[in-house]
Amino acid sequence: MSKEEKPIPDHEYDGIQEFDYPAPFWWQLFFYLCIAFAFGYYVYYEIGGGMSSTQRIEEAMAEVKRAQIQNQPQGPDVKALLALVSNPDGLKPGKEVFTSKCAACHAPDGGGLVGPNLTDRFWIHGKGELADIYKVVHDGVLDKGMPAWGALLKDEELNSVVAYVKTLEGTKPQTPKAPQGVEVK
Ligand code: HEC
Repeated sequence: MSKEEKPIPDHEYDGIQEFDYPAPFWWQLFFYLCIAFAFGYYVYYEIGGGMSSTQRIEEAMAEVKRAQIQNQPQGPDVKALLALVSNPDGLKPGKEVFTSKCAACHAPDGGGLVGPNLTDRFWIHGKGELADIYKVVHDGVLDKGMPAWGALLKDEELNSVVAYVKTLEGTKPQTPKAPQGVEVK
């Protein structure tokens, strides 16, 4: 046994002698770094208000929500409009809106006055699909004198009047205005 060896007396079992050496430098360094890290960790999260994992998830979910709202398809719910077309109760508010707000330009029966005939198969904007009608009624055609009703009507009224316009297609107005736009086959 050399001089540098520092056996611990009475710590020998089955011929294996325990020695008393300091742990290797790399090990001690790691040990103290861990303590320093734990200290910093505690201060940051418990005192400094660092975000907990729950807060992180909430933050991420809020981000997802924002993205979902941003990417929502703009415009009408065509299915809901389609359901209104075949529902007399659903069309009632639309008919009222049409009589009070649209008839002045499109005639009470949709035959057209200043505004185009809405009963024929000719359309200036789109092809007479519910989504097309919704868009032109919602956005208007301001430079041609068609108001933007999106800002003036409640959603329910807007949807209903769009569905009502759809039901005018193929009806026979008293004094139909000459077709404008492109015929939809
Ligand atoms: C002040 C007159 C005026 C009023 C009120 C008005 N419109 Fe119009 N509307 C127009 C004019 C003019 C056009 C044609 C725009 C163009 O030439 O691009 C038009 C176009 C339309 C079109 C598209 C027709 C096509 O051929 O593409 C729809 C649908 C329509 N209006 C529905 C409505 C509804 C529903 C209302 C009531 C909520 C309404 N309008 C109220 C004047 C009006």
